[in-house]
This record gives sequence, C-alpha cells and structure tokens, in this order.
Amino acid sequence: MEFRDTFEYYLNKVNNRLNLLLEDKTGKIYDAMRYSLYAGGKRIRPVLALACCDSLNGDIEAALCYGCAIEMIHTYSLIHDDLPCMDDDDLRRGKPTNHIVFGEDVAVLAGDALLNFACESILNSNITDSRMSIEALKVIYSASGADGMIGGQVLDMEAEKKETDVQQLVKLHRMKTGALICASASVGAISAGKDKNTFSEYASSLGLAFQIRDDILDIESDSKTFGKPVLSDEKNNKTTYVKLFGIDGAKQLLKEETDKAIESIEFLGEKGRFLKEFATYLLNREN
Ligand code: IPE
Ligand code: IPE
Ligand code: MG
Ligand code: MG
Ligand code: MG
Repeated sequence: MEFRDTFEYYLNKVNNRLNLLLEDKTGKIYDAMRYSLYAGGKRIRPVLALACCDSLNGDIEAALCYGCAIEMIHTYSLIHDDLPCMDDDDLRRGKPTNHIVFGEDVAVLAGDALLNFACESILNSNITDSRMSIEALKVIYSASGADGMIGGQVLDMEAEKKETDVQQLVKLHRMKTGALICASASVGAISAGKDKNTFSEYASSLGLAFQIRDDILDIESDSKTFGKPVLSDEKNNKTTYVKLFGIDGAKQLLKEETDKAIESIEFLGEKGRFLKEFATYLLNREN
C-alpha cells in the first residue's frame, strides 16, 4: 500500500474509536471534550503507535486503545497550552480555542477530564492482558507527567524569562513534545509484546524533529494553513530552534534528526517502510 493509503487506514481506525468512546456521553463537559478532540488533529501519535505495532506484527487492537488514550492526553495538553495564563492563543486545529468557546473554567476542566478519561478508556477496555495494559499505563503516565510533557511545559515557561542554551532547549523539547511521541512508539512495541525501548532512537529523533518543524512553521506558515496562530512563539518570547540557530540552521537540524530517525530503523527491513516515510512526511508537513 502507498504511504497515504496506509496513513488513511490508521487514521480512520483512530477517528472511529475516538468517536465511539464518547458517543453516548451527554452534558457540557463532554461537549467541550468532544469539541477539541474532534476538531481535526493530525493524530500522529496514535498513528505512530499503530504503525510501530504493525511493523512488529503486534496486537493492533491494543495499540489502538493505548494510542487513543495518548491522543486524549495530547488534546488536553493543547487546551491548557492555549489558555490565557499559558500561550494565550485563540485558534487551534483551525477553530477557536476551547476557552474562547466554552470559557476558561470549562476549558481547564475539559482538559482535566480528558486526562482522566484517557486512563479510564484503558482500564475499561476489552484487553485481556492486564499486565500489558499496566505497562502501557506506566509508560503513558510517566511520559505525560512532571518528568515528561508537564515538566517540559514548565521548562518552556521558564525559558521565556531567561537565557537558554541549546542543551536546555533540547531537554525542553524532548520533554514537552518528545515524551508523548516516544510513549506512542513504546505502546506500539508493548502491544507487540516487545521491549518498550524498541523504537527509542527513532522516536526520540522524531520527537525532536517534530518540535523543530513546529517552531519553523510558527514563523514561516500562515494561520489558515497551520490551523493555529503564527508568531505565537515570538509573542511569548519563547526559546526555539529558530531563535538559537536561525531558520536555515533549524532546517538543517530538522533534516539531520529526520535522517537519524530513518537510519535507526534499518533493522526492520521492508517492515519499516511506513515508519521511514512517516518521518519524511513529518519533515515536510505544513500543519
Ligand atoms: C502540536 O501538536 C503541539 C506540539 C507538540 C508541537 P500537533 O502538531 O500534533 O497538533 P495536532 O494534534 O495535529 O493538532
Ligand atoms: C506545546 O508546544 C507542546 C505541548 C505540550 C502542548 P507549543 O506551545 O509550541 O505548541 P503549539 O504551537 O501551541 O501547538
Ligand atoms: Mg506552548
Ligand atoms: Mg502553544
Ligand atoms: Mg508551537
């Protein structure tokens, strides 16, 4: 299958499952959760989980469940990231941000509720191998917590106020963005009964490259294409790869990290084709 077809195949699985999980829920908080979750994200984290699992002939149903939980956590992180007390942005996934539509109070709670729901969706799933699910939960919740995404968001905020060198920037990127991307690849491996670190080199380079591309698009794109405001980093005095290395330097590093990711999965042979093309797709993405 062509890359695009396989991507669509995974994407449909993810969207169908996310729809199903919240389909019979009613009330304001669920409306706010659905608003952001169904706003049209790229779904790269659950797609990565499925692709990693598939490349090892694993249990796709398990990877889907864990990947969707990660997508919920990612969506919560975006709702909070856009709040006035954080990046103060009014556009996300091409639509007004959650707090613009539902108010800050509901937006905070919708984020919290997605974090809770992510965990419940695994605990309530039909997966019979509970040891596998516990391993996935450990990976997911350590990657999203104070030593992962949340910790990275804190470093990102602190870096607004002080000089930040490249080592600190790499750490920040690896935590705020890389951690959930690494967790996605890990749950894919776990779903195949393999070591959670099977893809760690690949996912760690991919995660770094992903945030570098985001920083470049924040300057080079337009809000219609990007689906979120441009020049948000400059507005908030963020430290980014572009700030430290310039646009060309950032593009060079993006290419290097992408190449590293691709080289690291040679061991998969033909089974690694989608993952290699996925890295190239992320290198060139426009939103
Ligand atoms: C945006 O993530 C936030 C970053 C970590 C850079 P995505 O670019 O994956 O956002 P969606 O999910 O497609 O909206
Ligand atoms: C946020 O990074 C990463 C998260 C953990 C949400 P950014 O602040 O650069 O993400 P965007 O550009 O708003 O999507
Ligand atoms: Mg931010
Ligand atoms: Mg932001
Ligand atoms: Mg950004």
